[in-house]
Amino acid sequence: MNVIEAIEQRRSIRAYTERPVEKDVLEKLVGLAVKAPTGSGMEPWGFVVLQDKKEIDALSERIKQKVLNNLADYPQLAQYESWLRNEKYHVFYHAGTVLIIYGDSASHWNVYDCSLVAGNVMLAAESEGLGCCWIGFAEALFNDANFKKAHNVPDGFHLVATLSMGYTKVAVPPCTRKPPVFFSWMN
Ligand SMILES: Cc1cc2nc3c(=O)[nH]c(=O)nc-3n(C[C@H](O)[C@H](O)[C@H](O)COP(=O)(O)O)c2cc1C
Repeated sequence: MNVIEAIEQRRSIRAYTERPVEKDVLEKLVGLAVKAPTGSGMEPWGFVVLQDKKEIDALSERIKQKVLNNLADYPQLAQYESWLRNEKYHVFYHAGTVLIIYGDSASHWNVYDCSLVAGNVMLAAESEGLGCCWIGFAEALFNDANFKKAHNVPDGFHLVATLSMGYTKVAVPPCTRKPPVFFSWMN
């Protein structure tokens, strides 16, 4: 699969097979992803990998409860209240792997750089038969000092992206998007 095919076919994948994402596969994907451009050459990223299903399930529940108990703090999530109240809803879609990307605030460009890395992970995953979904809900917990300390995230790093990952169980047809708007195009 070439890069254009990967871009064309990538979708947010929310159903995964039982096959675990192997260590060498994840290392390969992340190793490719960090070839992203990086402002001032600082490479301001670091990763946490969760592969303990019980921990992932427990984190899903904690995130749901935290957001529901503090809805006023998460106006961007208000539209998803009914999802969170659904006891069957799993924030990570029962993924066996969650990849968390932290950015080093010492770099002004860290959010851009880490987002490019997340995009690369998703495209590389697509070409290897894996699927990902960026999980914005995870912001409710993965930036907490206690969580970061428990996962050895150094001071100065903050959450940029969380991806649930696994081998794709249910593929989704290629996406459609509105035509891009060009505010100006001067010849
Ligand atoms: C910053 C960001 C946060 C997102 N958060 C979630 C999320 O918490 N849960 C979820 O199911 N999808 C989440 N998504 C996935 C979007 O819903 C998805 O990208 C969008 O619907 C377009 O679909 P596509 O990725 O299949 O093209 C997020 C995507 C981005 C970029």
